[in-house]
Amino acid sequence: MPADYRDDLTIPAPVTRSVVITGASRGLGFASARRLYREGWTVIAAMRSLDPGLDELRRATGAANNDDRLIGVQLDLTDRASIDAAAEAIIAAVGAPYGLVHNAGISAAGMVEETPIDLWERMFTTNIFGPVALTRALLPSMRAAGRGRIVLVSSESGVRGMPATAPYSAVKGALERWGESMAGEVSPFGIGVTILVAGTYDTEIITDAGTTDSRDLTGPYARHHRTMDKRGRYAMKLAARSPDRFAAGLAKALDANAPFVRRPVGPDARMLLLANKIMPSVVMHHMIRAMMGIPRFGALRDNRSD
Ligand SMILES: NC(=O)c1ccc[n+]([C@@H]2O[C@H](COP(=O)([O-])OP(=O)(O)OC[C@H]3O[C@@H](n4cnc5c(N)ncnc54)[C@H](OP(=O)(O)O)[C@@H]3O)[C@@H](O)[C@H]2O)c1
Repeated sequence: MPADYRDDLTIPAPVTRSVVITGASRGLGFASARRLYREGWTVIAAMRSLDPGLDELRRATGAANNDDRLIGVQLDLTDRASIDAAAEAIIAAVGAPYGLVHNAGISAAGMVEETPIDLWERMFTTNIFGPVALTRALLPSMRAAGRGRIVLVSSESGVRGMPATAPYSAVKGALERWGESMAGEVSPFGIGVTILVAGTYDTEIITDAGTTDSRDLTGPYARHHRTMDKRGRYAMKLAARSPDRFAAGLAKALDANAPFVRRPVGPDARMLLLANKIMPSVVMHHMIRAMMGIPRFGALRDNRSD
């Protein structure tokens, strides 16, 4: 039994319809927290910094400072002490949460050769290792309650590895496999797992400011970046929907009863899931390459005689 495995917690009686949302300070997490609060959920808004996120959430929902249906919890997914303290605060506030929504995440822009290893490590710590640690800390209480749903927010990049964002694609793929594995483990205890494949939404993560950019615009991949940058921005602008649309999809997902659900939220995600199911991998490769304007196979070889 691992040293940090806890099955000895004193757990208060669970509050019905309580949900933990990580990354509730802004973007999809903020919109989801606002929506679920308005729908009557007790929302535990987990944020790296409670100031100013929680005040903004209170303003957006009209919740008073002492409203016990909107609870702020400090959570930095890269900090083990913060994760343990957050889990304890959550259990103290609501007992076993019904919903646990792993929404917080970071992205990265750059080719594999351009992206430093420490960014790969930060990507996996934030998007996988931290969420796994939080889940492990909360599962004993959720098992004891005999109900609940763990929601993992994936991305189109987790369905298909996308060029120039390999760490993000890799981590979202890993997130999906984690969720599938865990669903098989926790369903006998009455806990369901849902993977939401999010389409494109208008938040910081799809902007230069909201991502860690390792692109070398003058290096060997300059030709890729030139076209991808132009086409990517245009496509994102066209596809990006309001975060409130995602929040509606999440609210629906929390009402599911099935032990395991994997579903798209947004038309672009729905189309990609369908295409990925029916098209051979090589066709998907060429489609994505052509859409992004990436040169064809061998086009950037040096002029060699061999
Ligand atoms: N927007 C889209 O088009 C889209 C598409 C597919 C999937 N997604 C996924 O949706 C989720 C939410 O993204 P978003 O669009 O809302 O992006 P966002 O606006 O950039 O928000 C990211 C959230 O994650 C939090 N976060 C980052 N690092 C953290 C850490 N170490 N510990 C705790 N929280 C941390 C941020 O907190 P701070 O405010 O403290 O930085 C912020 O609340 C992500 O998992 C993303 O991959 C988004």
